[in-house]
Amino acid sequence: MAKIVYGFGSSHGPLLSTPPEQWDLRAADDRKNPQHPFRGSAYTFPELVDLRRGEKDFHREMSIEVRCSRHERNQRALNRLGEKVADVDPDILVVVGDDQHEWFLDDIQPSFTIYCGEQVINAALDQEKMKTKSPGIAVAMSAYYPAEDHIYPVPKDLAHAIIQGAIADEFDVAISATQRAGPKGPIGIGHAVGFIYRRILKDRPVPVIPILLNTYFPPNQPTPKRCYEFGRSIGRAIASWDAENRNKRVAICASGGISHFVIDEEFDTRILAAIKNRDTETIFAEPDNMFRSGTSETKNWITVAGILAETELEMNLLDYVPSCRSEAGTGCGMAFASWE
Ligand SMILES: [Fe+2]
Repeated sequence: MAKIVYGFGSSHGPLLSTPPEQWDLRAADDRKNPQHPFRGSAYTFPELVDLRRGEKDFHREMSIEVRCSRHERNQRALNRLGEKVADVDPDILVVVGDDQHEWFLDDIQPSFTIYCGEQVINAALDQEKMKTKSPGIAVAMSAYYPAEDHIYPVPKDLAHAIIQGAIADEFDVAISATQRAGPKGPIGIGHAVGFIYRRILKDRPVPVIPILLNTYFPPNQPTPKRCYEFGRSIGRAIASWDAENRNKRVAICASGGISHFVIDEEFDTRILAAIKNRDTETIFAEPDNMFRSGTSETKNWITVAGILAETELEMNLLDYVPSCRSEAGTGCGMAFASWE
C-alpha cells in the first residue's frame, strides 16, 4: 500500500510572479474585460466598480504599500511550501490542476483527465508565444516555464491504478498517455502543473502524476460534489495501490484558485473553512455558478479535499492573501495550505 503522507494547496496566479509595481499591467486587462463573473452574474469593469463601492477600500488595497506587503506574504508562503515539500521529500507527487486550452482545445475538452505517459515535459518558455500574451501575463511566464525543457518521470503504474479505481467507481475518465505535440514538438504541460514544478519543486525531477480537470470551460465542468467524489476515488486507489513499490510515500497538490479575477473574500473564507473542516455539506451547497473563470480552480482544492478525506492529515491554512490590483477589487485571493 502506498501512503499519502502530505498534501498542499497553492494559488498559482501571475501576480505571484509579478513585481508589485507592475500589477497594473493586469489591471489594464481587467478594465477591457466586458464580462467579469461575480457571484452568479457578470459585469463590465465600471459596473463592478459601482457594485462594490462601499464593500472595501479598494483604492487603499491597490496602493503600492499594500501591494508590497501582500507580495511579501505571498513569497513567504510559497517559500514555506517549497521547504515543506523538500522536507517531506515524497516519492511521488500527484498534482490536481486545470487545463486552460494548453493541451485540450475546442476539438476535445474532457472533464477529468489522468496523464499516464512515461514522462512529462515542462517545455521551455516559448518566446514567440510570449509575444502574443498581454504584458501582464508575459511578465510572469518564466514562473511557469523554464529556460530549457525539463523532463519529469511519471509513475505510470500508480496512474493506471488511479484510472482503474476511477472506472470501477463509475468515473469514465479520459486518459492521456502521450504529451500533445504541435509544429515545434511536444506541447509542454500547462500552467497549473508548470508553476508547481518551477516555484515549489524548484525544477527537481520529482515523479509527478498530472490530473487535469476542466474547471474553466462550459458546458462540461464537473460539479463540486463530483470533484470531491472523484478525489475520494483517487485517494482510495492510492491507499490500495498494490505494486512492487508498495511503500511509496505520496504527496498531493491542489494548484490554483481561490477567487479570481474578481476577489471574493467571503467566498474564499467560506470555502477554505469548509475544506479545512471536512464540511462537505457547505462545499456541495455552493452554487456551481460561483465557480467561474479563475475561481473555478477552487474545484482543484475540492478534489484534493476528497483525496485526503480518508487520511488523518489536517489542513493548516498558512496564509490567505487577497492581492488586489484595481479599484474594482480584481486580482486574486491567494491561498496557501498544508495538510500535515
Ligand atoms: Fe490558473
